[in-house]
Amino acid sequence: MKDVYILAIETSCDETSMAIVKNGHHVESFTVLTQMDTHANYGGVVPEIASRMHTENITLVFEETMKKSKIKMAQIDAIAVTYAPGLLGSLLVGVEFAKTIAFVYNKPLIAVNHTIGHIYANNIDNELQFPLLALVVSGGHTDLIEMNKDYDFNVLGSTMDDAIGEAFDKVARVLDLKYPGGPNVERLAKLGQPTYKLPKPLNDKSLNFSFSGLKSSIINLVHNERQRNHEINKEDLACSFQTTAFDEVTRKVELALQHKKYRQLIIAGGVSASQYLRKEIKTLADKYDILLNIPDFKYCTDNAAMIGAAAYPLYLEKKFADYSLNAQSGASLNSK
Ligand code: KG4
Ligand code: ZN
Repeated sequence: MKDVYILAIETSCDETSMAIVKNGHHVESFTVLTQMDTHANYGGVVPEIASRMHTENITLVFEETMKKSKIKMAQIDAIAVTYAPGLLGSLLVGVEFAKTIAFVYNKPLIAVNHTIGHIYANNIDNELQFPLLALVVSGGHTDLIEMNKDYDFNVLGSTMDDAIGEAFDKVARVLDLKYPGGPNVERLAKLGQPTYKLPKPLNDKSLNFSFSGLKSSIINLVHNERQRNHEINKEDLACSFQTTAFDEVTRKVELALQHKKYRQLIIAGGVSASQYLRKEIKTLADKYDILLNIPDFKYCTDNAAMIGAAAYPLYLEKKFADYSLNAQSGASLNSK
């Protein structure tokens, strides 16, 4: 069979990214332009600024991605783009750019769900092994998902309130750490010990998650201590939060592994960049003797390579979008 090259575009939040992905597994060219430093000045992503910056940068990112590759536009088989979920204005820039390129070069268009993209980051330089259990942990998701084949998603459990990444970002803010919170909390946590006694997030047997109670307990603790002019050991508090949050995640993954025998365990989403979580999950996978895949660090946070990987099964099934494709801020995994 002839090689399939997909040009993929991702603009759902604050990264403008493009990639050329061969046969859904191999990254031929890859560019990420992050706006992180700009948004850090405001303590979080400012949607209006994010979409303007995507508009400024997207053509440059396209040029750069094509320049770095030996693949020419004539060899590209399809254009893939994240259409949901994410910031509407940001998504629109990518969707409109993708439609234009698809129209001008007469290529099929593929609409990709961002969360599915995170899962398929595990197909880069690797092969998904079904049935698998996926832990999706990002700024918008904390999900345990079972897959029995490509594009078959059975959500076993989800967060009932805050996503884990969101909790990290809010705790970071109260500890005076810069956006994005997760990596900064992790950096601080490495210097501390888990000495603070925090409430266990959800002490039950379900596969659901809850992080808002834990987050609020930290915010309250910091405010109370500050009011009393008490010193807070930020390193220890960051470490206590990280340990409590990830212990709960690991506990739920373990429960799922006890319910059913899976061939593979994968983790996905920005929070899977956490070295602490990666280590915990590795220990668990060893304990249950299950095949583990964790994407390369650069494919954990938002990137277009994962969108190219997720587009490939849709390409094989000729599930193409038409020019009426629009961005959506939310979408379920099974909606396209
Ligand atoms: O997947 P992603 O890049 O964007 C979304 O689709 O949400 O995930 C971003 C989230 C942010 O909340 C960020 O704080 C978190 O991932 N994150 C981390 C770490 N690195 C990124 N959280 C905890 N520890 C980390 N090392
Ligand atoms: Zn993401």
